[in-house]
Parts: sequence; structure tokens; C-alpha cells
Amino acid sequence: MDAAKQPISRLLMVGPPGSGKGTQAAFLSEALGVPAVSTGEMLRSAVAARSALGERVESIMQSGALVDDETMAQVVQQRLGEADAQSGFLLDGYPRNLGQAETLAGILERLETQLDIVLVLDVPEEELIRRALARKRDDDKVEVIRERLSVYKNKTEPLIDYYRDRGILSMVDGFQAVDSVTAALLGEIRKVGQV
Ligand code: AP5
Repeated sequence: MDAAKQPISRLLMVGPPGSGKGTQAAFLSEALGVPAVSTGEMLRSAVAARSALGERVESIMQSGALVDDETMAQVVQQRLGEADAQSGFLLDGYPRNLGQAETLAGILERLETQLDIVLVLDVPEEELIRRALARKRDDDKVEVIRERLSVYKNKTEPLIDYYRDRGILSMVDGFQAVDSVTAALLGEIRKVGQV
């Protein structure tokens, strides 16, 4: 282990729908010993539980649009304030636009911390559609997938330059076998810090 390198414990995973964020977040969370914080999963649990939050977001999620920034800020602020997130976390699905990125920066500043690395999964569009159609989640219908891809391109992709400008961006080829993607992600993490 390189003693000069700091431990990596606050990570963000960015990528289009179906790029493998959730799949890889599960492996990395285990490997790094930090909780995976997936906003998509949190919202789907709220819908399944028929909570007030779930009732509010269900139709938005089914359309492929983004839930409003204020609701998401509350969800994420509360989750990152929980005990298990104090020594690290792996964010998957938040932020989704530049406004959310600024909100996250503010939340982390108040917690006196910051992101160590932002990992971007790069996968061609035909493969994203193929994976989503094979999975058949509620929002995995072809017209909804196209809407989610369009939202990603217009609203989420600008985060790549945002985090590149901050010097914490790493791009990984997500169009490989699952374990090869995990190895590539761990390789990027080891380049910048201790694992
Ligand atoms: P969210 O759950 O975040 O959906 P998403 O970004 O569309 O991502 P997916 O879950 O579809 O894909 P993934 O990249 O996690 O891939 P996965 O590992 O599942 O969000 C859902 C909705 O919630 C949004 O549309 C929005 O409405 C709302 N929302 C969430 N966060 C929000 C926010 N911050 N602001 C506003 N709204 C928000 O893999 C996909 C499939 O591919 C799986 O079947 C998997 O087994 C397979 N697979 C994975 N890796 C590979 C591989 N290497 N090779 C082959 N198959 C693979």
C-alpha cells in the first residue's frame, strides 16, 4: 500500500440508464466497506412501501423524467446524515444535473467532507437498450428508456465536465463483462488512493 495515498471512501458513480451503476455499486460497496446509496433504489422502495414520498414520485419515475431537485435534496441529505454514511459512501444516481451537483457540494461542505472520486461508466446506447429490455423493470419500456437516455444526455452528461474540471473524474469502459468492469473501477480507485 502506498502510504502517501489517502483512503478512498466517498465515491460517486455516474452513467446512463443500464450502464451498470447499481450492479457495480453493490460490488464496490462490499470491496470498500462503505454503504451504497442509490437514489433510484430508495425511490423504488418508497413506491413499494406506498409512503407519501412513493406516492409523489411513482408517476414521474414511470415516465422516465427526473423527480424534482428539492425532493431529491431532502432524500440525499437525510441519507448522508445517517450513522453508516459518516465514514464513507458510494453514491449512485445522485446528482443527476448541475443543480443537484451544487446541492451535493453544499451538503458535503456542511458535513466537512468532499467526494474523493467520480467514476463514469461508458456504454454504447444499443447495449443500454438491450440490457434494459432484458431486465423488464417498471420503467424499462422502450419509450421510457428513450426518455431516460434523453434526460441523461441533456441533464446528467454535463456533470462529466463539471467533475473533470474539479480533477476527480475517472472514465471506465462499462461494455465488458461485469467482473472486468469491477476490476477496471478498482484500478481507477487505486490510481488515486488507498483501497
Ligand atoms: P435509477 O434507478 O438511478 O435508474 P437509471 O439511472 O435509469 O439506472 P438503471 O437502474 O436503469 O441502470 P444502472 O446503471 O443502475 O444499471 P444496472 O446495474 O441496474 O433511477 C430511476 C428513476 O428514479 C429515474 O428515472 C428518476 O425518475 C428517479 N431518480 C433517481 N435518482 C434521481 C435523482 N437524483 N434526481 C431525480 N430523479 C431521480 O444494470 C442494468 C441491467 O444490465 C441489469 O439487468 C444488469 O444485470 C445488467 N448489467 C449490468 N452490468 C452489465 C454488464 N457489464 N454486462 C451485461 N449486463 C450488465
